[in-house]
Parts: sequence; structure tokens; C-alpha cells
Amino acid sequence: MIDFSLQIIDWYRRTKRNLPWRDTNNPYFIWLSEIILQQTKVNQGMNYYFKFTKNYPTVIDLANADEQCVLNDWQGLGYYSRARNLHATAKIIQKQYNGVFPSRYDEILKLKGVGNYTAAAIASFAYNLPYAVVDGNVFRVLSRIFDIDTPIDSNEGQKAFTYLANELLDKNNPSEHNQAIMEFGAIQCTPSNPDCTSCIFNERCLALRNNTLSERPIKKGKIKIKNRYFHYLHFEDQDSIIIQKRTKKDIWQHLFEFPLIEKESEIDEEIMRNEILEKIGLKPTNLTKLPKHILSHQHIYATFWNFNSLPKEDFINAIIIKKNELSSYPISRMIDKYLENV
Ligand code: ADE
Repeated sequence: MIDFSLQIIDWYRRTKRNLPWRDTNNPYFIWLSEIILQQTKVNQGMNYYFKFTKNYPTVIDLANADEQCVLNDWQGLGYYSRARNLHATAKIIQKQYNGVFPSRYDEILKLKGVGNYTAAAIASFAYNLPYAVVDGNVFRVLSRIFDIDTPIDSNEGQKAFTYLANELLDKNNPSEHNQAIMEFGAIQCTPSNPDCTSCIFNERCLALRNNTLSERPIKKGKIKIKNRYFHYLHFEDQDSIIIQKRTKKDIWQHLFEFPLIEKESEIDEEIMRNEILEKIGLKPTNLTKLPKHILSHQHIYATFWNFNSLPKEDFINAIIIKKNELSSYPISRMIDKYLENV
């Protein structure tokens, strides 16, 4: 449907925001921007994009960097598996592709952390290949204009929307078409209170006509949230502090925190205090409970138990560092929030 594409590209040229990753067709920069923007808003992602393209100007620079430096530069963005995948993938591109970013869709799709959406984004923005992007914006725009009630989080929905998005794609200008439909979702066809009076599609938008706009897109099921109860042991004396690396395949892998006792459920404060005293042989001097820390699939209830001396026993993967060295270790946003207030 070439008229849809012409209309949305025309709207895009008149309305688009100036975003730095739109001024390049360097696949490495586009890949960086897309990974950063996977779970991050444009405004927040911008500084990280500038930081990464400056600190690691080529994929080889990123491959040769120390993982800890990459995680440190990522700090504050969350979903750290993105940063680890970024680094691991840069190494793969260095080895398997001689440091040249792959240019075929199927090769791009094989990269770690790159799914259908990101592969289509890189293939179209960097190489102008005809693959339609299907992200949250596209689901919203298409489900409304065509009033589609197939749940977007079902296999059937994924297939139907991908098919439609590719039918609509202008094969002569996939790069601009894809940018345009995403921008349209971000700026015009917003999740709540879209301004339909000013919309270029208001005469053909079936959800507007059928009064189903607020119900589009449809989602089948909400994800189940897991509650976790973290008890951190924060040992510090005058100049040292104990931190511990998270090594398991779990949230915040490879980031640093304090020695941790995790409980299956909420636990009475006095019982926990006694358990700690028994285990460590030291009495906590203070305790801080953080407000619930919300991640996409988990809610973390964290309590920090403070000690003003260091323990005798060693903890696995724990190290004693000088307090002023703490900022060179990557930590989660939750630990950062705690440290901001102690
Ligand atoms: N979100 C994800 N990718 C984007 C892009 N290329 N431009 C604007 N927002 C985006």
C-alpha cells in the first residue's frame, strides 16, 4: 500500500525529531542505538549513545574494552544483559567477521541480543534492506488504523502484524518508512490521549471510527511478577568496604553489591537479626529498608544491615576495597539508590 507509506513518510519529513542515530548509516552506531533504546526512552538513551560512540568509536574498540568498563559506562540504564551481549557480540564480530559489521539480515539476526525488531531496524537503517520493523509503536499504529483485535503477545499476533507491516513497507525506501512509522507511534499515535483531530489518518482509522481506540492494541496476558527478599550485609570500617560480585545467571549478573542473603518470603526483623548474628558473629548497628524496587518481572524488597567493622569470615566472590574505589565498580540502580542515601 504505497499511499500509506507516502503519507507517513511525508508526515515524518515535516515532524521528525532530530536524533543523532538518524544522521548515520554506520551499522555499528545504529546497532548501539537500538540496543540502548530497547528498554530506554529516547531522552535518557541519548547521553549513553554519545558516551558509547565516543568511548568506543568502532566495534573493535568495544571488543577490546574491559567488560567492567563497559558495564560501568552502562550504569543507570538497567537490563545489564544488554551491555554484556553488546560486549560479547563485538568480540564475535571482531573474530568471525574480521571486525566488519554483518550486512545480511539473517546474519544480523543471529547476533546475541538482536531479535526480529532490532535486526529489521539495523538492516533497514544501515543497509536500506526491505524488512519492516515491528515494535510497540508499530503494534499500536497498525492495531488502531486497521482495528485489529489479535493479541500482540500471541504467535498469531506477531505473525499477522509482521505480515501487515511488510505489506505496507515501501520497498524503495524501507529506512525512512520504518523510522516514520515508529516516529508516528511515538509522537502522534500515543498510548494515551492521542490527538486524533490532527492525525493524517483520522478519516481511515478504523479504531477511531469504531470507538475502540483505547482498547488497541490488545494484550493477552499480563506477566507474572515474582517477589524477592534481599538482605544485604553492608560491612565497612573507616576506610574499607566489602563488595561482592553477582556471578549467577540472574538479574544484575557481573555487577557488584554487598554480601547477600536471599529469603523466599518476608521475614520478621528480629528473627533475621538473630540469624545474622549467629552466622556472622557481629551485631548490625543499623538497618535500612528500601522501598520496593520494581523490575519488569520482579519486585525486590531490599533490607540493608549495617556493620561498622569487617567480618572475620570470607564471603565467596567478595572483595575488600577502599571506599573511594567504589565508583569504579559497576553496580545496579538499586544499590546506587541505597548509596545515595547513606
Ligand atoms: N526507539 C528505538 N529505535 C528508535 C529509533 N531509531 N528512533 C527513535 N526511537 C527509537
